[in-house]
Order: sequence, then structure tokens, then C-alpha cells
Amino acid sequence: MPRTDLTDPAFWARPPQDRLDAFRALRRLDAPVYFRERDGGFHALVRHAHVVQASRHPELFISGTGVTTPRPARWVRTVFGDSMVNLDDPRHARLRGVVSRAFTPRVLARISADVERVAATLADRVAADRPADFVTAVAGPMPLQVICSMMGVPETERRALLAQVDHATAGSGTRRRLRVPGKSLRGLARLHTVMAKVARQRRREPADDLITALVSADLGARELGAFFSLLLVAGVETTRNAIAHALHLLTTHPDQRDRLASDVERYGAGFVDEVVRFSSPIVQFRRTVAADCELDGHPLRAGDDVVLFYASANRDEAVFTDPDAFDLTRRPNPHVGFGGGGPHFCLGTSLARQEMTVLFRELFARFPAIRSVGPPEPAPSSFDNRVRRLEFTF
Ligand code: HEM
Repeated sequence: MPRTDLTDPAFWARPPQDRLDAFRALRRLDAPVYFRERDGGFHALVRHAHVVQASRHPELFISGTGVTTPRPARWVRTVFGDSMVNLDDPRHARLRGVVSRAFTPRVLARISADVERVAATLADRVAADRPADFVTAVAGPMPLQVICSMMGVPETERRALLAQVDHATAGSGTRRRLRVPGKSLRGLARLHTVMAKVARQRRREPADDLITALVSADLGARELGAFFSLLLVAGVETTRNAIAHALHLLTTHPDQRDRLASDVERYGAGFVDEVVRFSSPIVQFRRTVAADCELDGHPLRAGDDVVLFYASANRDEAVFTDPDAFDLTRRPNPHVGFGGGGPHFCLGTSLARQEMTVLFRELFARFPAIRSVGPPEPAPSSFDNRVRRLEFTF
């Protein structure tokens, strides 16, 4: 096997099994390996225990310097506001508290209704248009439409937003910046304008939706814009990739598919967890060490970077029996696909679960023979396990 260099874009273009083998070899080493980059470097945390430890000690492993690779430009954060992923307490706790409190039972009921409606509409369109690509027809629009409904973005604005998201995420570079749909200044500015317009309107005429709850909780215009950008990145791409991997995994594991189809309510939660463990839609996030410390006896210096490889931790044989088996009845399933615990744990876990369960329930009911044709076409990336295209038939 070629030597592993996690900073080399060529590594991320290697076949998935090669990469998993390389991570298995790294997990066997006594200590995290340090990889040098042009402007610094990082300790690669590849074991489950190390990812969990770094996630749960935010006082030592901080996010304020930026968690994506490379880091978002300072001026982008200054002009457009900070996302909560890139904040530490007390600012993180304040923002996360405001947002979490906005998910009231009424708002949640409305979101559930949106999820059901979007899934049914997409299934109708599949039946009518008979599309060939599952990603553009189903996996992409499902989370995008749900988040736009959640944020109250009018239908007339959604097409333009979708184009921005597609444009910003079209590149398949392996060291992409935080791919907010405004990698370009124009895209971000437009997003903020849309949010400001919706916010003004909800201040005048409050509704039972998330954005009304957020403006009533005094989230400023810049914070709203930053939150919406984050939702589009954190909530759309991740779920899109998870949905696409799910169809392919169910196709290649017919026994698991039969089980899920027999009772989606019963097996749905285990199905989502196992898809997220197995496919790790987010491959890694970064933290910076705040003070000299040790991780399992391995010394870390203040200012060092660590990269938490969720994709490796999710296959750690020290935690998962038969880690390369796809088994939706796996119990327990302490995967770190939504994060390793701690204050930044994925805010959208229950929404992602709901979207995936409702969507596959709807698809199985309408198209019992739905399946992928051939493997997913990947887009090499060290950041997310992205599916560019997935042919399907029903
Ligand atoms: C299968 C789908 C998803 C996966 C795999 C996923 C994964 C993750 C991961 C790994 C993190 C970082 C956790 C950490 O640093 O400890 C995260 C954070 C986050 N996710 Fe998700 N996510 C998914 C869906 C969603 C959805 C649907 C939403 C939208 C509501 C969402 C919103 C967020 C937000 C806002 C954060 C930042 C939280 C914070 O910094 O406090 N995610 N997600």
C-alpha cells in the first residue's frame, strides 16, 4: 500500500476501501500521527476514543480558530458574521441557546408537516418525470426544500438559492474552503439579503415558524444570515449525501432493505444511525489545542491543530464488532457521524433522522422496486463523503 499522506489530495481520490485500510493502519499505531501542511500541520485523531475525548473537552480543544480546512477567511467572518461551529463559549452557548429555544413544539410540528409534504411532492415528481439521477431528483432537493420551508424562504427565491448552492459546491477540489453558498461574495450577500427580507416581513406579521421564533429572540440580521448559511452547508449537503449513500447501501444489502421496508417505524432509527456510521457524511472537523496537555499519553502543545477523523472513528474495531458490516440492527451504535458529543454535537440530528425515515417510507410505499444502478459517483474530498451522481431505477 502507498504511504499514507492525509494532506495529499491524491489520497482522497483513492478508492474508499484503500482509504479505510489506511485508516485501519493508522489506528494501530501507538499515538496520533502528525501531518505537516504548507502552513502548519495537524495531529490526526483516528481512534474513536480520541475523537470523543477532543469533542467533549471544548476548554482544551477549541473551535474559535475555525473548524474547516482551510479555515474560513477572517474577513468573511467579520463581514458576514460567525457560524456557531466556529465559536467557543460564551458566544457559542448564547447562540446555540437562542436557536435551540426557537425549536418550540409548534415550530417542530410545522417542520414535521413540511418534511411529509416535501417527501410526497418529490415522490410525485419522480413518478411523473422518471429522472435518472437520484441525487438531483431526490437526495438534494429533500433537505434543501425542508430547510427553506423551515426558514420561511419564499418559493420564488428558492431556485436562485439552489443555483448558488450548486455553484458553490460544484468544485471537487480536495481542500475546499467552507463551502457556504457564497464562496463568492455575491452569493453570500444574496443569501443575507433574502434572510433580512424574510426577517422584516416576520417582524411585521409573525407566523408559527422558526424564523419568527428567531427574530423574536433577538437574533440580529447578521446572525440570522450566518445561521442560514450554516444550515445550508451543515444541513443540506450532509443529508443529501446520507440519503444517496442510503439508497445504494440498501440496494447492495437486500436483507437489510427487506428488514427496513417491512417496518420503517421500527427500524428507521437504527437505519439512519447505521447509514451515518457507515458512510460518515462529514469526514472530519478540526480543533485547536488551547493549552499544553496530553491525549492518551501523547503530548500536545498549545496552538497545535488536531483533526477529528469521524470516518475512521466510525470503523474503529475497538468499539464496533465487525465494523465493515452494514447492519441496521447494530446495538449499541455509538458512532460519531453527528459528532463525538460535547457542545457542538449536531443540532440537526433529529431533523436528519426524520427526513431520512419519512423519505424512505414514502419511496418504498410508492416504488417498491426502487434501487440504485451501479455505484455512486464520488467527488473526492477530505471534508465530506460526497456523492455527485447516483443512477437509479424503480
Ligand atoms: C446526516 C446528516 C448530518 C450529519 C452527518 C451531520 C453531522 C454533523 C457533524 C459531524 C457536526 C459537528 C459536530 C461536532 O463538532 O461535535 C454537525 C454540526 C452541526 N449540524 Fe449537523 N449533520 C447532519 C444534518 C444536519 C441537519 C439536517 C442540520 C440542520 C438543522 C444540521 C445542523 C448542524 C449545526 C447547526 C451544527 C453546528 C452545531 C454547533 O456548532 O453547535 N446538521 N453536524
